[in-house]
Amino acid sequence: MLGTGSLPSLLAACESSTGPARLPSTERSPLRFAPEVAPQNLSLLAAEGRAGFGSGAEGPAWLLNGSLPSPLLRVRRGDLFQVVLENRLPQDVILHWHGLAPPADMDGHPRFAVGTGGEYRYAFTVEDRAGTYWYHSHTHMRTAEQTYRGVAGLLIVEDEEEDALGLPSGDREIPVILQDRRVDAGGIPYYQPFGPDLMAGYMGPEPFGNGIRRPHVDVDSALYRLRVLNGSNARIFRLGRSDGRPLVLVGNDGGLIDRSRVLSYVDLGPAERADLLLDLSDTSDGDRVMLRSLSFSLPGGGGFMGGANLQGQPLDLLEFRVTRSVEEPSVIPDGLSTVPLPNPEDAVRERTFRFTSQMMNHRINGRSFQMDRIDEVVPFGETEIWAFVNDSPLPHPVHLHATHFRVISRSGGRNQVMPWEAGGKDTVLLYPFETVRVAVRFTAHRGLFLLHCHNLEHEDMGMMANILVE
Ligand code: C2O
Ligand code: CU
Ligand code: CU
Repeated sequence: MLGTGSLPSLLAACESSTGPARLPSTERSPLRFAPEVAPQNLSLLAAEGRAGFGSGAEGPAWLLNGSLPSPLLRVRRGDLFQVVLENRLPQDVILHWHGLAPPADMDGHPRFAVGTGGEYRYAFTVEDRAGTYWYHSHTHMRTAEQTYRGVAGLLIVEDEEEDALGLPSGDREIPVILQDRRVDAGGIPYYQPFGPDLMAGYMGPEPFGNGIRRPHVDVDSALYRLRVLNGSNARIFRLGRSDGRPLVLVGNDGGLIDRSRVLSYVDLGPAERADLLLDLSDTSDGDRVMLRSLSFSLPGGGGFMGGANLQGQPLDLLEFRVTRSVEEPSVIPDGLSTVPLPNPEDAVRERTFRFTSQMMNHRINGRSFQMDRIDEVVPFGETEIWAFVNDSPLPHPVHLHATHFRVISRSGGRNQVMPWEAGGKDTVLLYPFETVRVAVRFTAHRGLFLLHCHNLEHEDMGMMANILVE
């Protein structure tokens, strides 16, 4: 039955964070940071290699320029983005710049995948707002495996509007890709999906940050900007602090939101981002604060898979170890940005997308993805209401390329727009049997783009549709 969700209080969040299923506190490893590069005259070589995963574990991974995670691309709005992908992996590869709105032939549609020894040239102007974006493999039926093995990195856009806010930067900015993994006895992650994984998606019991298992990071007692990507294939994180203090949300998928929001926790489905301020100014040398995924259960379903499903189980994701007390002002701005979003009152039509999962079939409107079939034709520049209907007992993080939408309502399940869904979103999480309505408008480019579930096993199995903007 559909439960009426309500926002649990800060107190409830605290209780769940100290629950019995807490990970044993074994050793943790230092968080790694990907090398930062500008995407100009940049070659990204995709190849098999080896990576360290923390605690001395080293093993095979699929890497871009030898790095896990893939290099962090940092670019200014208005700059030229020029990248050559060179593929030396034993599979076709194409890269998608998730959250950016480049021209259609630069967007990494799977029909552009290049074979071993091939290359793909990207060149476009970055017209997107400052924000935390990312990039990953988008090869049809291989996205889950390639992304899991390491072909994924962060992509940060900066602009003048953001500069003016003086948000924490440099040493005070921590970009992190959070993922869950299954590891072998030597601590090496592996990707070997079988039966149930093709329904629920591939989940694992071990928390990873930037490719490191059970990471920690040394910090000062100061205000930090934490840019978080949920880079998991299927796992939802409910981010909260172990000390019960709130997180401050300043941005999400589409960049800065209108004003900061103080939240006891933030849910992040696969591919969603949270741009957070983490205030550690009340801590002192020797203190430890854990960024956790708090335990939760999916209202309206999700429980039928029993023990095979790790969804909702708590995880200690990233530990902050305060190693230096400093005195510096921690200013949290209130007003942040004017977010350009379509107005639902301007909508000229409505479309419905029904997400179903039955017997290993994940479909949109009853159909499985076909590379050459156009599923919807959408006029450029017109505002529409799209209803994403989850007709299944599984959660689906629904992702749209080439624009950001406004979440206007949710019915069933949690029955509300969640506070972290303010601003422009490119991915919205549908709990079982929820319907989410969004206002959509394409204003960047015409051409063929995608709508799909970002549970990567679902996507690979066909829960994806071609959207022609014209
Ligand atoms: Cu991040 Cu089409 O995906
Ligand atoms: Cu995308
Ligand atoms: Cu799905």
